[in-house]
Amino acid sequence: MQIIHTTAELRNALAAYGKTHAEVGFVPTMGALHEGHIQLVTRCAHENNLCVVSIFVNPTQFNDPNDLTNYPRTPEKDCALLEKAGCDLVFMPSVEEMYPSPDTRVFDFGSLATVMEGNARPGHFNGVAQIVSKLFDSVQPNRAYFGEKDFQQLAIIRELVRQQASSIEIVACPIVREADGLAMSSRNRRLSPEEREKANQIAALLFKSRTFVGNKTIQETIQWITDELGKVPVFRLDYFEIVDGKTLQPIESWDASEYIVGCVAVFCGKVRLIDNIEYKHAN
Ligand code: PAF
Repeated sequence: MQIIHTTAELRNALAAYGKTHAEVGFVPTMGALHEGHIQLVTRCAHENNLCVVSIFVNPTQFNDPNDLTNYPRTPEKDCALLEKAGCDLVFMPSVEEMYPSPDTRVFDFGSLATVMEGNARPGHFNGVAQIVSKLFDSVQPNRAYFGEKDFQQLAIIRELVRQQASSIEIVACPIVREADGLAMSSRNRRLSPEEREKANQIAALLFKSRTFVGNKTIQETIQWITDELGKVPVFRLDYFEIVDGKTLQPIESWDASEYIVGCVAVFCGKVRLIDNIEYKHAN
């Protein structure tokens, strides 16, 4: 496994591989890797001739400077895990390498970016689009792998690729959960033991709410989740929305769409966790 720090080195390495490797798969990450990332990398390595992973904590997507400062960074451990998972090239650029000058590009993702995370974290998706478009330009993958935990991010990336008329195939991979249901996230390691013990309630409530489809109204379901989360002292609900899985706009009834997803963001102590659940998906 090669570890590369500059775009120039990356281009040379890809060109060298290019002669023999037709298909390039790419997993962009911010490091602090967990089993969820490793499953993306394993799949990427399996489905492509060359597996490239980036590790870059992208400053432009953090709207909270404390979150950027506290974001866990474990590069040595990450590289050891990546090597085991079958990664060929790790790209670990510096901030100066990715942003030699400020990136002033403003993306327009319409109403996909104004709801939920876009509303709660102004500028977040613009920052994601800035870095992902730069990484796509550098790696030029055939396929790129993203986890469904960041459900809205996935929709934004698909839209980015559509707007740029790019041929990159976006591969969505299911949420990977801890044994007690908590969605895996690099942020989980910042939870105190007490918060970690309670954090599984988020997934437990989402799963229970699945039984409400067709029995309770959307409004009742939202109210139930809100009330139940409110009973857990370490939680502070940021939002819970039930949306159309494609447009991400809130829906009013279970019949309003063939693809319905519930998306939640909860502060568990100081750590903001997100999760989602598919209520309905025809096909
Ligand atoms: O999902 C993430 O880890 C990040 O948002 C991404 C896609 C690597 C861009 O920095």
